[in-house]
Amino acid sequence: MTQYYDVEAVRKLFPVVEKMTYLDSGFQTPMSTPVKHAFETFIQESYETAGPKSVWIDRMEQTRAKVAALLNAAAEDIAFTKNTSEAMNIAANALPLNAGDNVLMIHGDHPNNTYAFLNLKKKGVEVLFIPMTEIVNADSFRPHLDANTKVISISYVAFHAGHRFDIESIGALCKAKNLYFVVDIMQAIGVVPIDAKKVGATFIGSGTHKGLLIPQGLGLLYWDRTRTELEPAYLAAISLENPPADFIARPDDMAPAPTAGRFELGNFNLPAIHGLGAALDLINEIGIEKIEAHCFDLGDRLIAGLDALNIKLVGPRDRSNRAPHIYVAALPADEWIDYFASNDVRVSPERDGVRISLAMFNTVSDIDRVLDVIKKRGNTTGRSSKAA
Ligand SMILES: Cc1ncc(COP(=O)(O)O)c(C=O)c1O
Repeated sequence: MTQYYDVEAVRKLFPVVEKMTYLDSGFQTPMSTPVKHAFETFIQESYETAGPKSVWIDRMEQTRAKVAALLNAAAEDIAFTKNTSEAMNIAANALPLNAGDNVLMIHGDHPNNTYAFLNLKKKGVEVLFIPMTEIVNADSFRPHLDANTKVISISYVAFHAGHRFDIESIGALCKAKNLYFVVDIMQAIGVVPIDAKKVGATFIGSGTHKGLLIPQGLGLLYWDRTRTELEPAYLAAISLENPPADFIARPDDMAPAPTAGRFELGNFNLPAIHGLGAALDLINEIGIEKIEAHCFDLGDRLIAGLDALNIKLVGPRDRSNRAPHIYVAALPADEWIDYFASNDVRVSPERDGVRISLAMFNTVSDIDRVLDVIKKRGNTTGRSSKAA
């Protein structure tokens, strides 16, 4: 295996992974020591001084700039949200859609992305689903476009089998046809490099508890600021270009901020934003391309091991259309999950098998261990295992 960075040193920052074989970062990543310290700094300051709010806001802006840099965007393009669902709902409700318009999505994509658009049914907006195939690109959508199509919305990486859809070709199609393009990058960010400008998305939404390495409760939204017609459905003082300094609301001065801050509401999840700043420093110290390359190599080893055991890989195999870090083995999840847990292997049940998902701290020994645990049970259908 190529040594892209000092994985053993990184591993030491995630103490939980010494206690179990952690192959579940597609669900949630464990907390690292630098993130814990950042949370502790916030708690200590809050406890001892009741909060240097200006210092916290300053750190928040530094974190916003780090999020932006990871997406090759400007800080002004980024809003903080509560999670992916909120980001997707903000996006869906900012689009100027009317009765009869339609939105194209992929059947079986994540429900937290899908419901944001299905909810527009109330306005008479229809959501049409194209089939989920191993490769989804502009050609997959082209035959489904009609005069009423206004939006395409998809996830970059599919959570349940690791498909990595061709968002750049779909973004180019949206540009050519003057469609809005909304992308959920929750399963990709922090592991797969993303260039918001190249993608050409109108909105990109995400949470932060997977590749961005902090606990649940913080999300982000990228907005293409040239789309000035997109206004927030909800408003607070902070969303405005001129928030009233005297805290008296002015009905005649309600222009939304020219930045993505127009989509923000009220106070922020400051402790989580502190954690996120530390997580982004860690990702930047290693380098996102190196994290991606490392996960791809581990994935190759996993696929070869599953092949040797004659276990089908559910999602795509080819690096050009698979995510580096999400793999589903076609083992009946209900018959295998408890067995993995009893062997201290943490994985997730998915619709077509067991999901083995990777992060910056995983090593060859984690891959070999999960393969050994499968081998030990012997019967890969799980039906008549004695070991379980
Ligand atoms: C593609 C995708 N979108 C969204 C989410 C989660 O949504 P939220 O951040 O709103 O909890 C997940 C998984 O947790 C996901 O895999």
